Amino acid sequence: MCGIVGYVGNGASIEVLMSGLSRLEYRGYDSAGVAVIDENGTLRSRKRAGKLAVLAHDLEVAPLPASHVGIGHTRWATHGAPNDENAHPHLGDEGRLALIHNGIIENFAPLKQELLDQGYTFLSETDSEVAAVLLGREYRETGDLQSAFRAVVRRLEGAFTLLAVHQDQPDVVVGARRNSPLVIGLGEGENFLGSDVAAFIEYTRSALAIGQDQIVTIGADRVDVTDFEGNPVTVEPFEVEWDASASEKGGWPSFMAKEITEQPDAVANTIRGRVTEDGLVVIPELDGLDEFFADIDRIVVVAAGTASYAGQVGKYALEKWARIPVDVELSHEFRYRDPVLTARTLVVSISQSGETMDTLMAVKYAREAGAKTLSICNTQGATIPRESDAVVYTHAGPEVAVASTKAFVAQITATYLLALHIARLRGTVPAAELSEFAAELAAIPAKIVEVLEQKDTITQLAQWMSDSRAVLFLGRNVGFPIALEGALKLKELAYIHAEGFAAGELKHGPIALIEPGQPVFVIVPSPRGSATLHSKVVSNIQEIRARGAKVIAIAEAGDAAVLPFTDVVIHIPLAAPMFEPLLAVIPLQIFAMELSNAKGLDVDQPRNLAKSVTVE
Ligand code: M6R
Repeated sequence: MCGIVGYVGNGASIEVLMSGLSRLEYRGYDSAGVAVIDENGTLRSRKRAGKLAVLAHDLEVAPLPASHVGIGHTRWATHGAPNDENAHPHLGDEGRLALIHNGIIENFAPLKQELLDQGYTFLSETDSEVAAVLLGREYRETGDLQSAFRAVVRRLEGAFTLLAVHQDQPDVVVGARRNSPLVIGLGEGENFLGSDVAAFIEYTRSALAIGQDQIVTIGADRVDVTDFEGNPVTVEPFEVEWDASASEKGGWPSFMAKEITEQPDAVANTIRGRVTEDGLVVIPELDGLDEFFADIDRIVVVAAGTASYAGQVGKYALEKWARIPVDVELSHEFRYRDPVLTARTLVVSISQSGETMDTLMAVKYAREAGAKTLSICNTQGATIPRESDAVVYTHAGPEVAVASTKAFVAQITATYLLALHIARLRGTVPAAELSEFAAELAAIPAKIVEVLEQKDTITQLAQWMSDSRAVLFLGRNVGFPIALEGALKLKELAYIHAEGFAAGELKHGPIALIEPGQPVFVIVPSPRGSATLHSKVVSNIQEIRARGAKVIAIAEAGDAAVLPFTDVVIHIPLAAPMFEPLLAVIPLQIFAMELSNAKGLDVDQPRNLAKSVTVE
C-alpha cells in the first residue's frame, strides 16, 4: 500500500521520481504527488487525486522548476477520501518541508489534538499530515532534520515509512521505517530510496536493506543509517536480480497478460539450482539447516489471499511426503487467537511481496513465541524474509499486476520443493521416488505452455459469460485450493460474485445455489491419482447438471468420463496428480482476465485494491 520514492543526485529529480512511481503504482493508485527542492532552494510540491497519469499530465502542462532532490508518493487511501487534499506529500514548517508516508499512525488522533491545541492547522483528514506537522515543529526546535526525525518517530505508534525533504537542508532526503518497507538504491553520484527495489531498478541494481526502527539520510554521495537513538548501524548490501525490463509491459496489453505467459519460466526458475545431478531436491539456501528440520513436529503455514491458497496446496505435499502435520492459517487470524506454538513448530510464511503486514506480524508473533520460522518469498530485501530464520526465494521475477498469477505458481512450486527437501532429510520417501517427483516437477513448465495455447478458447468462453452474475468453482483434494483461487481471481478482476467450494461439501449446503443456467467450474481430479475421488467428482457434476447448472470442467486430457455431463471441457496435460494445481489454475486466471477485459475493466489495477497490503 502506498509507493514511496526518494532521490538525491545529478539527475532530473522529477523524471526519476515519476519513473519510480510508475513502477510502484501497483502499490496504490488513488492519488499521487511529488515534492522537490528546486535549484533556488525552494520547496515545490504537486499532488493530484486519481492515477499517476493525472499527475503526469499536470506536470507536463505546468512543469515544476529543475531540481535534483525530491520525494514521490502513490497512495492507497486509509484515512480520508482519495482527493487532492489527502494526497501526499503533506507540508510542515510553514511549507518548508514535505513528507510522505506509508502505513498507519495509530495514535494520530491525540497527536493531532496536541498540535491543534498549540495552534497548528491541518489541510487534510490523513494520519500522515500529523507526522508532517510534528516534524515541522521538531525541526523548529532542533534545526536539524535527523534529530527532528528521531523526536518524531519516538512519538509515533503503528507502522510507518516516512520520507521528508526540507528546503533548509536541500541536499538530503531523510527517511525512517518501522514495520513498513524501505530500501536504499546506490548509484554513482546519486542515491535512491524506495518502498521496494522496483522504485530504482531502472538506475541501479545495487541496494541496501534497511532494518527495523532505523533512520536513513541519503545525499548524492552519502548514505547514513542510524537506529532511532541516533547510533550508526551497518546495513546489508544486496544485488537486485531483477532487471528493469522485467517490470515493463513490453508490448503486452496488460501486465497480467504478460505475467500469465511468464508462468513456465516462474516455475522453471524456482526449480533451477535446487535439484542435484542424482535428481534429489536440495535447496541451497537451507544448507546447514538439517538440524533445524530434524525435530519439527508440526508446520503452520501463514499467508493471506492467493498466497494462502498456495499454502493449502503445499499442505497436501508436505503431509504426504514429509509426513508432518500441517495447518494453514490466514495470517490475520493467526496471532489473535493464542495459537499453540512450541520450539518444534515450524511456521512457514508465504508472501510474494514479503511485506504483507498481516503475515509479517504473524511471523514476528511466531518467533516471539519460540517457534522456528521460514519464509517463502519473491522479493529480495523484503522484511518478512529478514525477520525469518530461513528463506526459500521464489524466482517469479517482479509481479506488477495486482492480481497474483506467476507468483502463485512459483509459491506452489516452492512448497513442493520444501516438501521434497524435508522428505529427503527425514527419509520419509524412498530416494528413487523423490527423484521421480523432482523429474515430474521439472516437466511442468512445458505443460503450462500447452495450457496457455488454449487461450483463445478460454477467451471466447469469458466473452460468452461476460454477463454472468455469479460463478461457482468446485474442486477436491489439491483441486480445492484452486477452486478458491479461481473464485478470488474472478472477484478481484471482474467484480463478479464468485465462490469456491470443496466438491464434497456440495450436498451439505452449496447445492441450494444451483439454479438453471448457473455456471460452475469443476476442477476434476485425475482418475490416475484416485479413481474414487475422480468418480465422486463426476457424480457431483451429474448432480449439479441435473439441477440445470452449466458445467465447465477442467480435466486431464483423455478423461472421457466427464464428457457426457459437461457443457465445456478444458483439457490439461497429464501430470503427477500432486502437480495438477500448477496446470489447472492457468485457465481460471485467463478466464478472469478475459472476463475483466470483456467488461472493459482495468485488469492490472482493479478497484479498491493494492498489491502490497502493508497495513493490518
Ligand atoms: O504479497 P503477498 O503474497 O503477501 O500478498 C498476499 C495477498 O494480498 C495477495 O495474494 C492478494 O490476495 C492478491 N490480490 C491476489 O491476487
